[in-house]
Order: sequence, then C-alpha cells, then structure tokens
Amino acid sequence: MTTPDPARPGRSADSPAPGSAGAAIPEQPAGDRPPPTERRASEGHSASADRPAARDEPAPAPEGRHAPEGQPAPEGQPAAGDRPATEDGHTPGEQPAPEGKPDRPNLGDVVLRLDGVVKTFPGVRALDGVQLEVRAGEVHCLLGQNGAGKSTLIKVLAGVHRADEGSITWLGQPFAPASPQAAMRAGIATIYQELDLVDDLSVAENAFLGHEESRAGFLRRRSTAYRTRQILARLGHDHISPRRLVRSLPAAGKQIVSMARALSHDARLIVMDEPSAVLAHDEVRNLFRIIRELTAQGIAVIYISHRLEEIRDIGDRVTVLKDGRTTAANLPARSTPTRELVSRMTGRTIEYVFPPRASTAATEPLLQVEGLTREGEFADASLSVRAGEIVGIAGLVGSGRSELLETIFGARRADRGTVTLNGKRITSIGGAVRAGMGMAPEERKSQALLLDEPIYRNMTLSSFAGYARGGFTDTGKERAAAAETAAALELRPRGDVNRPIRTLSGGNQQKVVVGRWLLGGTKLLLLDEPTRGVDVGARAELYQVIHDLAARGVGVLMVSSEVPEVLGLADRVLVMREGHLIHEAPASEIDEATVLDLVMAGSLMEGEPA
Ligand SMILES: Nc1ncnc2c1ncn2[C@@H]1O[C@H](COP(=O)(O)OP(=O)(O)OP(=O)(O)O)[C@@H](O)[C@H]1O
Ligand SMILES: [Mg+2]
Repeated sequence: MTTPDPARPGRSADSPAPGSAGAAIPEQPAGDRPPPTERRASEGHSASADRPAARDEPAPAPEGRHAPEGQPAPEGQPAAGDRPATEDGHTPGEQPAPEGKPDRPNLGDVVLRLDGVVKTFPGVRALDGVQLEVRAGEVHCLLGQNGAGKSTLIKVLAGVHRADEGSITWLGQPFAPASPQAAMRAGIATIYQELDLVDDLSVAENAFLGHEESRAGFLRRRSTAYRTRQILARLGHDHISPRRLVRSLPAAGKQIVSMARALSHDARLIVMDEPSAVLAHDEVRNLFRIIRELTAQGIAVIYISHRLEEIRDIGDRVTVLKDGRTTAANLPARSTPTRELVSRMTGRTIEYVFPPRASTAATEPLLQVEGLTREGEFADASLSVRAGEIVGIAGLVGSGRSELLETIFGARRADRGTVTLNGKRITSIGGAVRAGMGMAPEERKSQALLLDEPIYRNMTLSSFAGYARGGFTDTGKERAAAAETAAALELRPRGDVNRPIRTLSGGNQQKVVVGRWLLGGTKLLLLDEPTRGVDVGARAELYQVIHDLAARGVGVLMVSSEVPEVLGLADRVLVMREGHLIHEAPASEIDEATVLDLVMAGSLMEGEPA
C-alpha cells in the first residue's frame, strides 16, 4: 500500500448534527465528493518515497474554480475577488513565511493545505505522504494511534521540523517556516503536548515572547502587562496576574498562557496537541468555550485528542493518520461512526470494551490506608485494596487524588495516618518498592522517565524517580525482558528497545511507564491516569494488561478523570472531592451520572477550582 487510502466519505454523508456547537463554517458534508487533496493523491503516484519534492510545484491554480452545487470554494483558494494577488504562482517555492499576513480569510476558505508531506527521522518515516486541508473557522481534528505522526506533523507546521518532501500551502502561498518564530509571524501558533513556556519568566513575558525581535529589542513592560491582561480576559482568565511567574501556575494555567501567546501574535491557525490531557473536566469545558469563540472569529483550529467524545463535541472535520499517512480526510466529526474512525486509525475494528471482571473473593486486604492526612491536600483518607482487586478513585484534578497516591507510595510525608502493605508500615519510596509497591505517576516527563536513556533502561527501572534499580545486572537479559513487555504493549516503533525514550511519541512513553511494573514482582500497583495520551487501540491493550495483573493477584489502585474508565475497569469505586473520599461503591452499583454528580457537586457552585 503505497498510496494513501483516502476517505470514502460517501458513506458518512449523513449531515452533521444541526445546531451543534462547533464553528460557524458553512457546512460542507464531506460526503459529496472526495476532498481535493485526495483526488490528487489518488491520481496515480505514490505519496511516499518516489514522489518528487512537491515543494517545487507551483501553488495550485487559483483562478476562479468554483465548487459544484454552490458549495463554498473547496479548492483551498480564497473566494475570488477578496484576495490580494499573492497566489499568482510566481512565488518561489522556498520562500519563507510572508512577513505581513494577507487579509483575513473568510469563514470556510481553505487556509492550509498539505500535500504529500514526508518527514523522516533516523530509522523512522514519521510522516509518509500526509494530506490535510484546513478551513478558516473550523476545528479540524487529527486522529491517529500513538506514533501515527500527529505531533510530528504539527511540528512541521510550527517550524520545528522541516519536511523532507511535499508541499504546504498557507493562505494561498507556499509555506516552509524555517523556525518557530517564522511560523508564528505567519500566523500559525502551536500549543504543544509538552508546553514550551519559559518557567522563570512572567505570564506577560511569556505571552509576548517572540515579539521582541520584531520590535528592535524594545519590549515595554507596562503595555505588555496591560495587553496581556486584555488577552487573559478574552480567554476568561483575568484572575491570572500578568506578573506571576509561569512556574507557579498549574498545567491548565500554563495552557492559557500558551493560548495568550497565540493571540498576542494574532494567530490565524492555532494548533493544539492534546490540550485536554492536562485539564480537568470543567477546564475542558472552558477550553471548548474559548475554541468556539476563536473559530467564530475565523481562526482555524487543529485539534489533537485521543478522546472521541471531545472530537464529537468540538470538532467539525476529522483527518485520520495511520503510520504517517492520511487514511481518511475531512470526515464529519459528529456523524462519522466510531467504528469507522477506529478502523481508519488502526486498520482493524476494536470493540471498545473492558475485560470482564473476575469476582474478587474476599481475600485479606493487601494495602491498608488509615486516616491518611496531608494538611491542605487531603484529610482522613481510609481505604483498602485486596490482592487481585482493582480499586478506582474518581475525582477532578485538584481533588487531592494524585497527592493521596503519592503519599501512599511514600513520595510525600503524611501528617497523620498510616499506610501498610501486607501488614508492613510504608513511610518511604524505598520501603514501598521493597515491599512490592509500584507507581506510574501522572507527570511522566518529570517524575518517571529518564528521557535520554534507552527504552529498555526506562522499562526496567523499577521505581519512582530513580530510587532503586530493578535487579538487572545483565544487559542482554534486561533488554530481552523489556522487549517482551514492549511487544505485549504494542510499543511503536516496534522491536527497538535501544532507542532513547525522548524519541517516542507521547502515548508510547506512557506505555513504558506502565510497562515497567509488569516486569518485576509488583504486588500493588498505583496508577495515576494510566491512559492519558494513550490511543484507543492501545488503551484496550493497557486495560487488558491491568486486568491480567489483577488476575495474577496484583492489587491495583488507580486514579482517572475519565469516569467510564474507572467504572469499566475497577471492581470498587471511591469518589474523591476536595481532599475527602466522599463515597464508595462497587462499580456495578454506580453509574457515570452519579459519579459525575458526586465529583462535581462542590466545585461547580464555587466556580473554578484552584
Ligand atoms: N525527534 C525524533 N527522533 C526520532 N524519532 C522521532 C522523533 N520524534 C518523533 N519520532 C517518531 O516519529 C513517529 C511519530 O511520532 P509522533 O510524536 O508524531 O506521534 P503522535 O501521533 O503524536 O503520537 P502520540 O499520540 O503518542 O502523541 C514515532 O514513531 C516517533 O517515535
Ligand atoms: Mg503526539
């Protein structure tokens, strides 16, 4: 298969839900005809290696191609007559981003087009002929399994990577940003999976980072603070002080600053790489509100997420990547059946089901937590986990759930209360690991991974923050063990555990963090958001792995903001709110609505959680 397998959107011609909350673009159900990029892709040649460097190709002919049946111009060309003469084809292909942006495109105009884009890293063809078309005012979702190339694609757009082949057209002109600054000046802003703010600068300095160069080194503090305040207000976050150091903000706040930076640069396209991964439930709603406001103003958004519900909620169209190729383009976000999306992503159909729960016979409690308290974080937490039992904690970010898990693991010192594993008191990480506790923490980057070390090292490193090493002295054995786990978790790229973990996609890094605990003699596993950033296919595998562990007698205590995940995976559910465990029930006796009610009750009335 050398040619991308383009969408056959004709099958999903059911029109998008009326009145759905997305952007006000003129709806063009993708069902009517194949999008132009696909037509070109299917005109015979492979979009991969043998493809000529399309950068040398002239921009597509602009003149007055009208869409059939009165549709808005689909060809990516701005509607005739309202464009400056920037697209008459004589622009040299390599020209950097234009300094001054052309007029604002109209809603529905194609602003960005990628054709046959290829990007290779040593040993990996991360992008292998990508087609993409994005319109002004739409939320265009990128969907694909871990390692499919989503982040690489947006890094090409953002000027971080340079495409090896293929063409990119932005606002009617060939586009090959030489640096992130160039992309930003051209009107493309990116909110990264790993936020790229400068921790030691203030909110305002970060928001206006990159403006200094263009203003002859002159940055006026007061006016910057003033303008930052305005932008923050526009984003609904005027409580964030422009003078505050970014370091002191929670993840959600940092994301807002990233967004403020996009607006300070008057971005026309904002690319968001898994923005919801760091957000709590109500913060996601706020993000969506912001996205709707931006798209109503004609800004285009590329939105990456592994959560299909989000794509249904905020998305207009979906492009699916698989192994660096576009396997479907411009599917309607709301009406395309999940089964179809998943099969485009994975090449197979996955029933998104949780493994059946084995009945947990009343064994002795393995973990016992009594009256555990850390002032200001959580109070009086008592719970137990039996061997072979999966206990799930549902709660918002900020409810104290991660702190509770870390305290159980000995990574934080309790003010009061006790933790025992098999009757043994746990007070430190070292003690916890020796007693057979493992933990996959929430922030894998800072807490769990040695980014420059190879996969196998990270996999066999059986503790939090590098305390104790797993008992490996024989590297060959260590590698073989890691390779086995990697295969079980379908780690991509396949079969190379020597690769530095830094070069793995986000979701694959997460698999390593969890996979580490499959190796040793773990008795109790603490999982904090185990599937964050993990794609639907790999999720099912991870669920299976967790389930198998429990079947082998390992106790699991997990935290997740995704209620269906807690309900589907756990035997018993604990609900945590504002530092208190407020409810406990067998998973079979509680439903999602009840959990959400319990989880949210307080915080909704009191406005935003800190
Ligand atoms: N700097 C790099 N060096 C080498 N390989 C890389 C580098 N960055 C990405 N890759 C590889 O390119 C492929 C695509 O990775 P990418 O991060 O784009 O995936 P993704 O679709 O964003 O996945 P996820 O959903 O897990 O975030 C992967 O195989 C990854 O290992
Ligand atoms: Mg990614």
